[in-house]
Amino acid sequence: MNAKEYMAGVFDRAADTYEQVGVAFFAPVAAELVRRADPGPGDHVLDAGCGTGASLVPAAHAVGPTGRVVGLDLAPGMVAAAGAQIERHGLSQATVMLGDAEHAEDLLPGQRFDIVLAGMMLYFLPDPLAAVRSMAGLLKPGGRLAASLLVRSSPAEAELLGLVERVLAPYTTGAGSAPFTHKLGGPEEMTALFETGGLRDAACADVVFEVPIQAAQVWDWLWSAARRAALESIPEPSRAEARAVLEASLPPDGYVLERTVRYTTGRL
Ligand SMILES: C[S@@+](CC[C@H](N)C(=O)[O-])C[C@H]1O[C@@H](n2cnc3c(N)ncnc32)[C@H](O)[C@@H]1O
Repeated sequence: MNAKEYMAGVFDRAADTYEQVGVAFFAPVAAELVRRADPGPGDHVLDAGCGTGASLVPAAHAVGPTGRVVGLDLAPGMVAAAGAQIERHGLSQATVMLGDAEHAEDLLPGQRFDIVLAGMMLYFLPDPLAAVRSMAGLLKPGGRLAASLLVRSSPAEAELLGLVERVLAPYTTGAGSAPFTHKLGGPEEMTALFETGGLRDAACADVVFEVPIQAAQVWDWLWSAARRAALESIPEPSRAEARAVLEASLPPDGYVLERTVRYTTGRL
């Protein structure tokens, strides 16, 4: 299995609980991405790596019934979850498809968009430049690409993740690790990525999100996104015990995680 298949498998299995465990992060981050991309009525938007629809749904509301939003994701579970959101919100202007954002141009031949969104996904791509080029190739003249990435976590998060690793070490087999392929994020790196990818006026802005998390939420939170890979390496019969030991090791009031998200925008 290659890195991309591995990553898609992790998100496929995470889709059922992604952003559904009472710890709000991806939804506010995606709302801010849409606000920055600023779609208007009638616009055509591509949401690359759309996940369960965190940015697809607000984008579809913004473009309205005369617009169009296409979600694209490599994980079938995410595509199914986004499809369910589209149906639940009655968004006839939105569709979702299974596919690789690195080949977005080939998947959507001849189509052009006013906005392409890439929310919290570029670091999962083996070749982010190929993906930016492909996404830029789908923009209309003057169209905008907007991406978000988690670039910095606070000492509280480092403490939490360190504790998780130490406490779970006797249970994990070491087989699974979070499927990040790139440590992207420096503002110069991001603007260079956009400009080399064919965009101009590339700019970055950082926003800090405060994420409160209780001890009893930590396991489900890890399980609901990329970090579930480490928990999956714990043999199933030991998981309940590992979870109980972890929860007993965490401060009962939990943590407030300060997570810095970098938004990068550019235009064709
Ligand atoms: C952290 S989630 C972000 C989802 C959504 N954009 C959000 O903000 O909640 C990353 C998503 O990117 C998708 N993804 C990763 N690599 C991809 C690729 N090459 N093509 C399409 N989707 C991809 C994953 O399947 C996953 O759904």
